This record gives sequence, C-alpha cells and structure tokens, in this order.
Amino acid sequence: MPAIVLIGAQWGDEGKGKATDLLGPRVDYVVKFNGGNNAGHTVVVGDEKYALHLLPSGILAPNVIPVISNGVVVDIEVLFDELDALIERGVDVSRLIVSANAHVITQYHRTLDRVTERFLGKRQIGTTGRGIGPAYADKINRVGIRIQDLFDENILRQKVEGALHQKNHMLVKVYNRRAILVDEIVDDLLSYSERLKPMVADTALVLSQALDAGKTVLFEGGQATMLDVDHGTYPFVTSSNATSGGAATGSGVAPNRIDRVIAVVKAYTTRVGAGPFPTELFDASGDFLRDNGFEFGTTTGRPRRCGWYDAPIARYTARINGVTDFVLTKLDVLTGLETIPVCVAYDVDGERHDEVPVSQSDFHHAIPIFEEFPGWDEDITGVREFDDLPKNARDYVLAVEAMSGSRISAIGVGADREAIVVRHDLLD
Ligand code: IMP
Repeated sequence: MPAIVLIGAQWGDEGKGKATDLLGPRVDYVVKFNGGNNAGHTVVVGDEKYALHLLPSGILAPNVIPVISNGVVVDIEVLFDELDALIERGVDVSRLIVSANAHVITQYHRTLDRVTERFLGKRQIGTTGRGIGPAYADKINRVGIRIQDLFDENILRQKVEGALHQKNHMLVKVYNRRAILVDEIVDDLLSYSERLKPMVADTALVLSQALDAGKTVLFEGGQATMLDVDHGTYPFVTSSNATSGGAATGSGVAPNRIDRVIAVVKAYTTRVGAGPFPTELFDASGDFLRDNGFEFGTTTGRPRRCGWYDAPIARYTARINGVTDFVLTKLDVLTGLETIPVCVAYDVDGERHDEVPVSQSDFHHAIPIFEEFPGWDEDITGVREFDDLPKNARDYVLAVEAMSGSRISAIGVGADREAIVVRHDLLD
C-alpha cells in the first residue's frame, strides 16, 4: 500500500478535490504537509458543501485519519473555528492529529503580513494576509513558536518575548503601529492548550508506523508548484515547499517511501496575487474562462487571473515533482470555444525557449508561442468514458498530454464529484 503525494501543477486552485475523490475510499491517512489557512478548498459531500482552509480534506471522510504535520503553520483560532463549524454540522472530527513540531501563527504574524504588504507598494506579493510568510520567516530565523511550546508556559513566555523584542521595534518605529504585549500573546496561546493537547502527536512516527502496517497515506500539498518558495516564481510565491519534496520534509516521512506523485493541472491556467503569468488573458477570453470556471478565490474571494494552458509549466512540474500521473481538471470550461490556444514554448527577446526560463526577468517578459486546437460545442459534463468525449476534446487532451511530461490519468468534466473520466488507475 502506497504513500501518494498530491500537488498542484500550476499556481493553485487546480481542483485537487477531484483527485482526492478518486482516491477517497482507498486512503487511510490524509496529511497536510505545508502552508496554513492560506489554502482554500471546497469539498462537496452529498448535498453539503464545506469550505476548508486549514484542515485537510480527509477530515470529512469517516474512515480517514487527518494529519496536520510539522511543515504546516497553524493558526489555532482558525483551526478551532473550522473544527467547531464541522462539529455543528455533525462531522466527527475526533481523529485529527497535529504535529508537536508544527509552527504557530500568532496575531503578530497576521499584523506583519498586512503591514509589510502595504509597505511593499508596487512590489506587493498579494498574499492572503493570513500571516503565513511571517510565521515561516520566524521558523527559519529560529524564533518561531511551535505547538509543543504551548504546553510549557515558561518556555512559551521566553519565546514570545524573544520574538516580540525585535518585532515591536519594527512595528512601532518602522510601521508606526502599536507594540504587541507579551502577555496578550501568551494568554491567547495558553487559552488553546487544553483543547489542543489531546490532538497533538509525533505525527512523523505515526505516519511511518502506518506505512509499515500497509496503510495508504495521501500527502495533500497546499498551493502549487509555481508558488513553491524554491521552485516557483520567486518572490511571487508562498513561503513553503508545495512540491513533492515538501511532503518528505514537511512530514518526516522519508522520500524513498513515496510511491506516486499525482499533479492536478487545470485545462487552462489561473493565478491569484501578483507575479509573472505568460499566458494571462486580458480580453473577453479571460472573462470567458473566469465566468465559466467560477474563478474566484475560496479564501479571499478575489477574481483569479486567467489564461491558456501552459505546456512548459506542466513539463516543469512533471520534472520537479516526479509526476507519475496528471489529473486534468475543468475540461468542460473550454466547451464552446471555437479554437483553444495552448502555449508550447516562449519567445524571450526573439529567442525560443522550450522550457521555463531559469531567469525570472526572462520569465517576466516571456511571450507565449501558441498552437491552436479546434474546440467543441457538445456538453461533456455527463461523459464518463474517454471515447465518448467529442473528437476535438479527445485530441486536445492527447495533445496536451504529449507536451506535459506524464500521462493524464483522469479528466474533470464538471463540477459534480462524479463528473470525471478515468483513463488509468492512479495507483497503478
Ligand atoms: P501567502 O501564501 O498568503 O503568503 O501568499 C503568497 C502567494 O500565494 C499569493 O500570491 C497568494 O495569492 C498565493 N496563494 C496562497 N495560497 C493560495 C491558494 O490556495 N491558491 C492560490 N494561490 C494561493
């Protein structure tokens, strides 16, 4: 029984839920290994719709153990709010386990996220404002607060004092804000400790033992490859490793235990926030994709930037993550287009680049070179077999597959959970 990593192939919001649904009944553990409540996924179970930001989607499956592992940054207030909202709707959330080594997002991280963004002016990242970057910065600077610190008041106080010492100088002198009191933070964090304690575990050990016992573990990446802090469009990225390597460091499960890497890729491209996006559309085609694909953020409600499929990005994702399978989502959104352009390479100052340019400056002004494919008009939302798709839709999928560096094993054809065409078993 395998360890499976599931990641986003582009800039997020690819619809990972489709792949989770496919794997659903076979998974015993779902692990969130990076990011925090900057993610946003909507999970539909029966007639019920759930919007989750921090909790792994596995929280809704009665037989799954959901895990928040060490690579995550946890806003505990948000964690409890999400849990309470689920409890109110009758969901059993008692199986959740949280790593003692996960870092905590506090009020000063949220404040710093917002003020630094404001001060960046034109160079703004367009963060979700949830304190993600500042919490990871503290982790790397070795002044972070970890979940386990909440159970030792002395240590917690020392750490908060250490963290605030420098931050208050910044807040007051640079950003003209009020200083944050140590007591305010310590009292707030301590108020969560009793409820949190039973959830806390050595999640790396639990997961290793689960794999030893033949269980199936799904590592669900937040954000996506092009938002990865190392391999994405830095600095317009999130502050964690959203690529498959992050599943190992972010969980403590060794890389050689990972069997499958599934990347979810949209049949076109979207992005939230700032940063380069070569195939972005500023015309009616962009509006078409946004309106038909309901491309508005789950976390922030922001309209997403929309553009055509970018094959060099898919190839890059395949390579960086070791993708074994792609799940191509939202193919139905393209229905009704006369022709569908696909970016096959870039033109950078008159030079053709078949791969994502290593220089960020080049990528910023890369002009996509498109190949056009004929569209289709038929409603495909009811199709469940690849051969039943209109010929032009099949040809589009096959062309995109040939350019993208790994097989396309499943295709999303509609918003419903069942609206999926499976070509290959994701675990085979
Ligand atoms: P942060 O993760 O809040 O620091 O934001 C950094 C960048 O990542 C911004 O451009 C966000 O819009 C983007 N981002 C963060 N989470 C998501 C997500 O779940 N989907 C899409 N973009 C995201």
